Amino acid sequence: MTKRVFIATYGCQMNVYDSARMVELLAPLGFDRAEAAEDADLVILNTCHIREKAAEKVFSELGKIRALKARRARRGAGMLIAVAGCVAQAEGAEIRRRAPFVDLVFGPQTYHRLPEMVAQALRADGAGIVDTSFPEEAKFDHLPKSRPGQGAAAFLTVQEGCDKFCTFCVVPYTRGAEYSRPAAAILDEARQLVAGGAREVTLLGQNVNAYHGDGPDGEWGLGELIRALAELPGLDRIRYTTSHPRDVDDGLLAAHRDVPQLMPFLHLPVQSGADRVLAAMNRRHTADDYRRIVGRLRASRPDLALSTDLIVGFPGESDEDFGATLDLVGEIGFAQAFSFKYSPRPGTPAAAAAGQVPDPVKSERLAVLQALLARQQQEFNRACVGRVLPVLLEKPGRHAGQLVGRSPYLQSVHLTANREQVGDVVPVLIAGAGQNSLSGTVAS
Ligand code: 5AD
Ligand code: SF4
Repeated sequence: MTKRVFIATYGCQMNVYDSARMVELLAPLGFDRAEAAEDADLVILNTCHIREKAAEKVFSELGKIRALKARRARRGAGMLIAVAGCVAQAEGAEIRRRAPFVDLVFGPQTYHRLPEMVAQALRADGAGIVDTSFPEEAKFDHLPKSRPGQGAAAFLTVQEGCDKFCTFCVVPYTRGAEYSRPAAAILDEARQLVAGGAREVTLLGQNVNAYHGDGPDGEWGLGELIRALAELPGLDRIRYTTSHPRDVDDGLLAAHRDVPQLMPFLHLPVQSGADRVLAAMNRRHTADDYRRIVGRLRASRPDLALSTDLIVGFPGESDEDFGATLDLVGEIGFAQAFSFKYSPRPGTPAAAAAGQVPDPVKSERLAVLQALLARQQQEFNRACVGRVLPVLLEKPGRHAGQLVGRSPYLQSVHLTANREQVGDVVPVLIAGAGQNSLSGTVAS
């Protein structure tokens, strides 16, 4: 009998990847994907803990799901409720205590045991299973080999965890120590993705350019991995995220220079433009280091566009420090960026640091920074008008006859084209630019 699973995914692209793998793991147990939680025999919340009130959001979401579960019970149908991801990892015991109706709690390193846990939960009848260990066995060895139907643009996790311990960040605690998958396993998975229709693969890792996996001839860095992937027939586009400035090495710069499939767009978080703040964040680079690295990247790939992450209101950040961030942003010129108010995460060093910045100051700085970033993004988008860009057509758009694709710079591009063209890379004459997207027509 078919059962149905509903997964709500929060946070980063790695969670999107993990959710897709959970669906694949459950398929042999007879699970199909449900469109809504009320139709599901199993509801999974794949959670994110990186910023603010994540746990509270999970508890409020769980309250709603509990009501759906009760409604299903009145119809004689069951529902298992699972909390996965980084909130589960960080607050497993608390979830069991405050929401005892939750059947399964498991972290990012144990979801390969999901079939076993589901079978156990169905038998156990309300006992509740918590698995937030960091197991010895490699999770990736226990995931299905085949990767059907991930679409034209797919994610592929190559590295996980982080040893950098930036003082604001929970990742080293929730995702664990840095681990790189062997190159052969990654190449196999990429072949599977291409066979399933992928034309673009984004290599994922919390610190993806710290990649150092076993290759056929010794240890490979990310640059070598990208070169090998570029040899795969049918794989037209390669991206990677998220990278750390410290780990941009010569091999990676050479890949940007030599590999045309490697897209000219890079997400390279800087966090702050002030050296004092960068040091307190334990970022292990200065603002000038960042400028130099960007200079070398642009020398390798002159059409490279950049995106970044920025935090305002880190403990001890003065007006002058914030000014240094504005200066750096002004100099580099980002095509796109994410910016956040500093949010103290329990258990991280910065949460207990002196000089916490009052919220109204954070809000004001964020508004100023975001106005600058929005201007830069608009300028970048406008400069695309009149150019012909290769666009990977990903999916149908909101209106009939419309498709949505991605430019090399990861901008959404809206255009009129046939549905059958999904999965093609077509030349598009860009005619319009909005704040977050472009529009155009297929060029002959
Ligand atoms: N407060 C605010 N932003 C944070 N980020 C990570 N931790 C925090 C925090 N405690 C941001 C960083 C990181 C991005 C994924 O989230 O900018 O690069
Ligand atoms: Fe977090 Fe990235 Fe710093 Fe690692 S490098 S601790 S993932 S911000």
